[in-house]
Amino acid sequence: ALVVRYRIRSSSRWARVAALLKELEERCATPVGKLRQVADAMAVEMHAGLASEGGSKLKMLISYVNNLPTGEETGLFYALDLGGTNFRVLRVQLGGKERRVLKQEFEEVSIPPLLMVGGSDELFDFIASALAKFVASEGEDFHLPVGRQREIGFTFSFPVRQTSIASGTLIKWTKGFNIDETVGEDVVAELTRAIERQGLDMRVSALINDTVGTLAGGRYHDNDVVAAVILGTGTNAAYVERAHAIPKWHGLLPKSGEMVINMEWGNFRSSHLPLTDYDQALDNDSLNPSEQIFEKLISGMYLGEILRRVLLRLAKEASLFGENVPPKLEIPFMLRTPVMSAMHHDTSPDLKVVGAKLKDLLGIPSTSLKARKVVVQICDTVARRGARLAAAGVAGILKKVGRESVARTVVAMDGGLYEHYTIFRECLQATFEEMLGAEAAASVVIKLANDGSGIGAALLAASHSQYRELEQS
Ligand code: GLC
Repeated sequence: ALVVRYRIRSSSRWARVAALLKELEERCATPVGKLRQVADAMAVEMHAGLASEGGSKLKMLISYVNNLPTGEETGLFYALDLGGTNFRVLRVQLGGKERRVLKQEFEEVSIPPLLMVGGSDELFDFIASALAKFVASEGEDFHLPVGRQREIGFTFSFPVRQTSIASGTLIKWTKGFNIDETVGEDVVAELTRAIERQGLDMRVSALINDTVGTLAGGRYHDNDVVAAVILGTGTNAAYVERAHAIPKWHGLLPKSGEMVINMEWGNFRSSHLPLTDYDQALDNDSLNPSEQIFEKLISGMYLGEILRRVLLRLAKEASLFGENVPPKLEIPFMLRTPVMSAMHHDTSPDLKVVGAKLKDLLGIPSTSLKARKVVVQICDTVARRGARLAAAGVAGILKKVGRESVARTVVAMDGGLYEHYTIFRECLQATFEEMLGAEAAASVVIKLANDGSGIGAALLAASHSQYRELEQS
């Protein structure tokens, strides 16, 4: 009798798992028709965001970058990249059109999580001190003409209302950063003061978003780059707009006739987005409820967390991992996207990577193959939804810029999610082709521009250098 009862319980348990999975898949579905609606909505919101300040959830921020790198840039420049779990400092010696990047060095430092939610000075002091150490290690093969100040491009990957190429106030934090006192402040002034506190003599000559840096870095190598997308901890895009198509811009029309726009597409929202109860709950519990909804469906900070929430529900309501709910599964952000990716890419017949991760990270001693398959299936549903939505976003940009008559268009991509999560990257590409049709997609290249953003910041620091006139005469 006991055996029979167990069988019944076990089969109803798997029936419950199947039902919850089916519901998840239905809610996450992104048929191409829906993606077209998302792309159309993106293009519509782009227009609205350009028309007036506050005209759309898409902020469509003016970057003050109206000239992209040409290759002519020369000299020694630094870059500082803040925006994810790590920050990077970089120096590069630029050699002009023929010789390009002569030498380049960088260092990566991880940001102590407490600094992301502490005080403004603490964060900027930490960054400036790492910068000071890095500058002190500058070798003989880097060359700065006598009497000149070192200059730096500051990549600050959060929404900023720029007031010039080298100043701007923080609109809000995203991606798990939350330091109230910085909001509304000029982040270049904050950094400059911290640099001075280090006793370092350095001038910030460009403040840019990582998407803008990636666009600049991409253009340096390839003239057909017109847009850049970051798929990392967060997600966002920038592109080149015609200046006269920006009604909210009241400044002088730049000579180039162009202006780079930082879309802040992470904050995009539309009734066409496939939101589930898991997403709603994640949003509610987040540091920034009802903001960055597109980002919460797509980016690296959240994919693993969505997976955790689905697994937790399956553990609670369908005993996916046995009678008990693994306590660690209750901890927010316990499952990071790199782990999800490792499980998703497990090709061993018995899914041993999945088993090992569940054991090591969540303390689940043993799992059935059936349960491990369920885990992989959820990874697939969640990652594909994200990748397909990102593809729809790119399609939306192309729709807005209308490149039909152009032979080749390049979109530069960067970010750990795109770089390391192969299934995500391949799904994005395939979806893009599905949406555009093979022929149209053939003229659009989506390409990895690895650390374009760092070089991009240095290049923009060069083109906005206080010594630029000197250099040209
Ligand atoms: C977040 C930030 C945005 C950045 C993106 C990628 O969406 O708000 O500025 O570009 O992450 O790092």
